[in-house]
Amino acid sequence: MRIAVLMSGGDAPAMNAVLRAITRYALGHRAEVIGIHDGFYGLLAGLTSPLTHVDVRGLEERGGAWLGSAREPRMLSHIFQKRAARRLRDMDVSSLIVIGGNGSQRGSYALERLGARVIGVASTIDNDLAEFDTTLGVDTAITAATRAIDDLKTTATSHRRVFIVEVMGRHSGYLATRAALASGADLALVPEAPIEAWDVLATVRRAFLAGERHAIIVAAEGFPTPSSEVLFRLRRNGIDARLSVLGHLQRGAQPTAADRLLAARMAVEAVEAALAGDHGFVLGPSRGDIVRVSFAAATSPCVKVTADDVRIIRALA
Ligand code: F6P
Repeated sequence: MRIAVLMSGGDAPAMNAVLRAITRYALGHRAEVIGIHDGFYGLLAGLTSPLTHVDVRGLEERGGAWLGSAREPRMLSHIFQKRAARRLRDMDVSSLIVIGGNGSQRGSYALERLGARVIGVASTIDNDLAEFDTTLGVDTAITAATRAIDDLKTTATSHRRVFIVEVMGRHSGYLATRAALASGADLALVPEAPIEAWDVLATVRRAFLAGERHAIIVAAEGFPTPSSEVLFRLRRNGIDARLSVLGHLQRGAQPTAADRLLAARMAVEAVEAALAGDHGFVLGPSRGDIVRVSFAAATSPCVKVTADDVRIIRALA
């Protein structure tokens, strides 16, 4: 049995922990493990190497994508999908495990439809794969954002300032709402719950009137009004405000214990599935279990933030 593994799309904390666990569990079951470097790009280019027990030593604690990851737009084209499927056949791979998020699992789905046996591992800080409670890397990203906001609050307090903190999440406001709730922010600006400009100003004014020395607005990168525009509007109304874009700091953090534990559980499930010859689904957590969700369902549109989440942030501010 030969299991190939690749990491795809934006890297996510604990991708490495998954790779380590997949490799060791598979080797322990006498399967061969082939690492494909640089995602689907590497599959198309034939960048592969066998993985040993020692190769993956210490990966449980390292952020990033040890195999290398890539966004490969050519995987949207049928010609290149067919080429990638042919590569897998030439490599005599019995199963391919794809560690990645929504875009990557669409690539997996394309390969599966072309006859490859693919197993996805839900891994993205965006938490934008349907039917899972969370995805690998989310806990670390929320923790990183929360710590950064805690630090920003100290300087904001010194200067009686408003901080707009922009967090990642692509089209989802999940990271933003969770980081806002965890850090006691005043407001989350997320695409799922649009809010009027005057409401942002009113929230900030209310905070200062209530005796606060700072106000924190967490803005999702996918919020329709750009953070710079929100900043401009506050300043135009005489508010001393600053913008801090956390960006890739959320993605590069060392994985939390929760993400490493999730990684170990998903890895074991992925290898067990490969050994049993099962394929055609993404693995991820749901209500305490690691469940299998078809590629079509997992990559379908999903909303994991509700207007109620935003209401609770305000109620606790
Ligand atoms: O999908 C993960 C993610 O970090 C998104 O939250 C973000 O929009 C995007 O990747 C950034 O991509 P890149 O690293 O290619 O700039």
